[in-house]
Amino acid sequence: MVPALIQFDHVTYRYEDSVKKALDDVCLTIADGSFVAVVGHNGSGKSTLAKHINGLLLPESGEVTVNGLSTANEENILPIRQTVGIVFQNPDNQIVTTIIEEDVAFGPENMGVPPQEIRKRVDDALDTVGMRDYAERAVHQLSGGQKQRIAIAGMLALRPNILVMDEATAMLDPRGRSDLIETLKKLHAHGLTVIMVTQYMEEITDCDRVIVMHHGKIAADDQPEAIFSDQDLLKECSLDVPEAVRLAETLRTTGLPISDHALKTEQIAEELCRLL
Ligand SMILES: Nc1ncnc2c1ncn2[C@@H]1O[C@H](COP(=O)(O)OP(=O)(O)O)[C@@H](O)[C@H]1O
Ligand SMILES: [Mg+2]
Repeated sequence: MVPALIQFDHVTYRYEDSVKKALDDVCLTIADGSFVAVVGHNGSGKSTLAKHINGLLLPESGEVTVNGLSTANEENILPIRQTVGIVFQNPDNQIVTTIIEEDVAFGPENMGVPPQEIRKRVDDALDTVGMRDYAERAVHQLSGGQKQRIAIAGMLALRPNILVMDEATAMLDPRGRSDLIETLKKLHAHGLTVIMVTQYMEEITDCDRVIVMHHGKIAADDQPEAIFSDQDLLKECSLDVPEAVRLAETLRTTGLPISDHALKTEQIAEELCRLL
């Protein structure tokens, strides 16, 4: 049997000196090619979960495996980090050199990738995030959104199978956020497994699956439309719903047959047009 891409088996984690469990008996399987969102209020355990995927944190009990390799085994950490790239909230903490293409090349160089191959990977990665024209520019000239795209390019140059974004859009303006989501969708369409931790509920409408974290536990694991229609869950976990979902609900209360699948304004508009 092919092992699941990512598997959490009864994972519990507590930060040093803390009595509270940041992860509490988490069981989770993520298949190759998924586009998964992780949501939950502040402190619910999202970042702790993300950091377990590439062994930045190790379970206090239970086990995390990536491609069947346990993060508990030190020898597995390098291959796991080659498989899983993580991008965090603040690009400034993730960019290490001053020139953009050098920054994107930094990871592969450290992994001993041959120079010609590095050139190709850097060009491909910058193309993917739409920053090829900026290759020779200085990092400090970039906007926050552009820096975040460079951080992603740096990860892509390592050719990971899995990209974990931990609130990587949080510091961007709405335009920067939607551009980045489009980039992620494109990467996903090309086979990358994407795990996106986010506070913005409108970002999860494109995902196949949403994991809701609450007090270190998985409170729900379902498709976006199921999450949005579970009022008790939304209330319990203090989650918002996107404006469009609210609009669809209002339309339904007026008797219009808008489906549960309409999670975006374009989809609602389409359904309304069909009713005319
Ligand atoms: N470095 C740390 N030291 C001690 N406690 C931490 C640390 N990082 C997070 N925590 C605690 O662990 C819990 C989960 O945090 P985190 O995974 O960062 O949540 P989220 O990413 O959902 O905001 C919270 O109670 C938080 O206060
Ligand atoms: Mg966090």
